[in-house]
Amino acid sequence: MYTAEHKAGTKPHVAARRTFADLPGPAGLPVFGNLLQIDSLHYHRQLEQWAERYGTLYRLRLGGKRVIVLSEHTAMATAMRERPDIWRRSSRTAGAIEELATRGLFTAEGEDWRMQRKLVMRGLTPEVIRNFFPTLTMLTERLLTRWQRAVRRGEQVDLLRDLKSFALDVILSLAMGQDLNTLEQPDNPLQQDIEFLFGRVARRITAPLPYWRWFKPAAEREAMVRKERIERAIAGFIAEARARIAANPELRTKPSNMLEALLVARDEPGSGFTDAHVVGNAVTMVFAGEDTTSNTIAWLLYFLAQHPGVAARVAEESDAVLGSRPVLRDFSRLDALHYLEVATNEAMRLKPVAPMIAMEALQPAQIGDVAVDPGTLVMGLIRQTCRNANAFEDAAAFRPERWLNAAHQHTEGDPARTMFPFGGGARFCPGRYLALVEIKMVVSMIARNFTLEFDRAAPPVDERFTFTITPDSLPVRLAER
Ligand code: HEM
Repeated sequence: MYTAEHKAGTKPHVAARRTFADLPGPAGLPVFGNLLQIDSLHYHRQLEQWAERYGTLYRLRLGGKRVIVLSEHTAMATAMRERPDIWRRSSRTAGAIEELATRGLFTAEGEDWRMQRKLVMRGLTPEVIRNFFPTLTMLTERLLTRWQRAVRRGEQVDLLRDLKSFALDVILSLAMGQDLNTLEQPDNPLQQDIEFLFGRVARRITAPLPYWRWFKPAAEREAMVRKERIERAIAGFIAEARARIAANPELRTKPSNMLEALLVARDEPGSGFTDAHVVGNAVTMVFAGEDTTSNTIAWLLYFLAQHPGVAARVAEESDAVLGSRPVLRDFSRLDALHYLEVATNEAMRLKPVAPMIAMEALQPAQIGDVAVDPGTLVMGLIRQTCRNANAFEDAAAFRPERWLNAAHQHTEGDPARTMFPFGGGARFCPGRYLALVEIKMVVSMIARNFTLEFDRAAPPVDERFTFTITPDSLPVRLAER
């Protein structure tokens, strides 16, 4: 089944013995297939439950679309490495994002993707993040001040809301060079436009039926107007960034944010990049970097609040690394927050906020021992894949310590290789480094200044699939230390 273009080193070890029709899977209805059996808010849970029943490779039909659901880690790693030549992102997801929100790295394919990937990586290097670090420190201090004030007044902190605003302020500052301060000034028009577009995209991605093929609801027409408004705003930010670079040419070698880095890369002779690439990727960063990061922090707090021993160890480490300061100010000390990093790994193992990676075959392909026809969608289940890897003892428990002696837990040495919270292969998340820096900044600040109390009387927290896994509530209170 493999074509001549198939890259060396990624050949499967097994021959293709089965086809789509041979796979087990839940029975569906004529025309709709399994579409109506999936509750869109719990999309990932439904696929995981079927994986428990039908195994690591099973089939579904979503309307006319053939879908293979995969949760076997070697096959998943192989397919992720075969992008962008053999697999593309889901055309439905990419279509919704491009039509309603933005065109950038996340949705690009083939040569265009290769070119954009180079551009975006220039904007997210550790060097760029280091130059951006003073802004990140300032934004973390702003969060601290807001929470200290609220706690002293005896007010309840809306952690989910504030974490989302924080992540949005960070990514807007980095990707667009603008501090909108959505944390303290909600209802900024740009924020509203962005939230509106992303809401429409999530709606389309989780819709049981492709209604947009038949009619465009008024909300989608409104999305177009908002999209144009965002693009105009970013054109203004680009003009400001160009003026800054002209006034301070040192920014060419030491850009202070991603927008400046993208503009410098775009201006290089023969770069092939246009302003449209810069605008598209600035919005793409917001799309990919806001909820993913804030929800990961939220889930980590959810676990820390329920595991006081782990929280105490995070606090002890944060006290040692931050010293007398309430917020980390020394970029070079981020690595010293090692226990916090393993606690984050553990939270991502149990709550991977991007729970599915969808790949659509561009040519005849193979998954495990199954021959796959072009156009078939493969949904990789991140959490189920990790469970099936059998790399983690007492897998349901939140135990960051398992990562400290990780090498002993898995025959291939590194359990991180069995876990794909940031995807894998050439399309691996380019924002991972930034996300981990943000997580360390916020959680070390919390651990240094507050204790977490879990409200055990609150109803159980539900995972909602809104493109990322969002907790429907976070019954965690902050108290000053
Ligand atoms: C904890 C936070 C984050 C998580 C869990 C996460 C997870 C992911 C995952 C699973 C993918 C798909 C990878 C694949 O297909 O193999 C991805 C792609 C991507 N992420 Fe992230 N992400 C996070 C934060 C960020 C941030 C902060 C940014 C931006 C600065 C970002 C930008 C992107 C982009 C642009 C892509 C598309 C890459 C491509 O197609 O080449 N992400 N991310």
